[in-house]
Amino acid sequence: MNILLIGSGGREHALALALSRSKELENLYAAPANPGILQVAKLAPISINDHNAIAEFCKDKHIDFVVIGPEQPLEAGLSDSLRSNGIVVFGPSKQAAMLETSKSFAKEFMVRHNIPTASFKRFTAIQQTQAIEYVHQHHLPVVIKADGLAAGKGVIVAETIFDAESAIKDILGGAFGSAGAEVVVEDFLKGEEASIFAICDGTNFLTLAPAQDHKRVFDGDKGKNTGGMGAFAPAAIVTDDVLKKVKERIITPTLSGMTEEGAPFIGCLFVGLMIDNGDPSVVEFNCRFGDPETQAVLSITDGDFADLFFSAALGLLHPGAITNIYNGYACNVVLASGGYPDTYKTGYPIAGISEAEETGVTVFHAGTKIESSTLVTNGGRVLGVCGKGETLSEAIKNAYNGVNFIKFTDEYHRTDIGHKSL
Ligand code: AMP
Ligand code: GLY
Repeated sequence: MNILLIGSGGREHALALALSRSKELENLYAAPANPGILQVAKLAPISINDHNAIAEFCKDKHIDFVVIGPEQPLEAGLSDSLRSNGIVVFGPSKQAAMLETSKSFAKEFMVRHNIPTASFKRFTAIQQTQAIEYVHQHHLPVVIKADGLAAGKGVIVAETIFDAESAIKDILGGAFGSAGAEVVVEDFLKGEEASIFAICDGTNFLTLAPAQDHKRVFDGDKGKNTGGMGAFAPAAIVTDDVLKKVKERIITPTLSGMTEEGAPFIGCLFVGLMIDNGDPSVVEFNCRFGDPETQAVLSITDGDFADLFFSAALGLLHPGAITNIYNGYACNVVLASGGYPDTYKTGYPIAGISEAEETGVTVFHAGTKIESSTLVTNGGRVLGVCGKGETLSEAIKNAYNGVNFIKFTDEYHRTDIGHKSL
């Protein structure tokens, strides 16, 4: 089987590693890729914005199917372009991806299909005054969200009216570009968060081990929201009972609702949950795997991912491709560039990856590149160091043991990934 993987982050490095272990695999190509991905895949020299070039490449290299990692190409309609060229794709259509790319769409969809989520109101730029009046009457905290894609940074949990007002003004005033054409003002949900990935073929699904992300930049869940500073799996908060409710109340009606509305969901449905007293509600949907959760989740999943994704892409999900979703515990610690999620410098040489890997961790590349034959930092989130263990505490210990070997200027990581679940 020949596969093309689209993306260049830590999530795609984890997907590439998982796909590379398939017995069915002949050639794995990746674009734009990163130095970690290129240890197990060949570079596809194409721009991911050039849909025709990707389709040509697929025909040329006899690609059996394409796996799309990030949300931006899904929003740009890459799946649709490839499918119209007869190419099989694991990844939702532009319309199905709206579960992530438009928070307004996702919220209205959940209301239409009785899926539990926080109450909300939507406002456009000309309704800024109404939005501000609305938060003045609202109890605190209140959650303010840019409608569109904002790399995990378009959500403000406002503890004061002042913060709520400035978030509304920032978003509607253009701080997030066109992603902020609308603002969603949402009730604050209390509880504990978890993420569940469902591999979907439009109708059927298979859930992988639940995970917990750490979105805030500093220890103790302090500071700004980021794309994610670390994750572990499985998450004990998602008991069998919670998982059953998630399947019945959330995933099943989401898949049937999307099909009814003419946009069947094929790909990975990421359900961001808030769990309060054993009852799950949806904080967000994403239309792709989570980053950095995927690195942890796939590390404890045994099976043939090429078979799984291909069968889902064909609309004939083969859950038997996966033999075990609970093979121990994994903890993935993100090593970031100091200053992230705000400004940071890049281009610093990275040392110690092979020494770290000798201890048994897997080091996932996220923001790295090769410059004059040296591996250097090239993004906010640079690496993920993933440790495994029979218990969560062993996985955490192993991950941090690996982290100690890696050095680059301005390196920053949280020291408490997984601790809240111990
Ligand atoms: P989102 O991008 O929608 O997942 O939001 C990012 C983060 O903001 C979430 O992971 C939560 O920690 C927080 N958040 C979003 N919506 C809510 C909500 N309604 N209640 C409480 N926290 C929220
Ligand atoms: N880790 C959260 C996300 O991928 O959106």
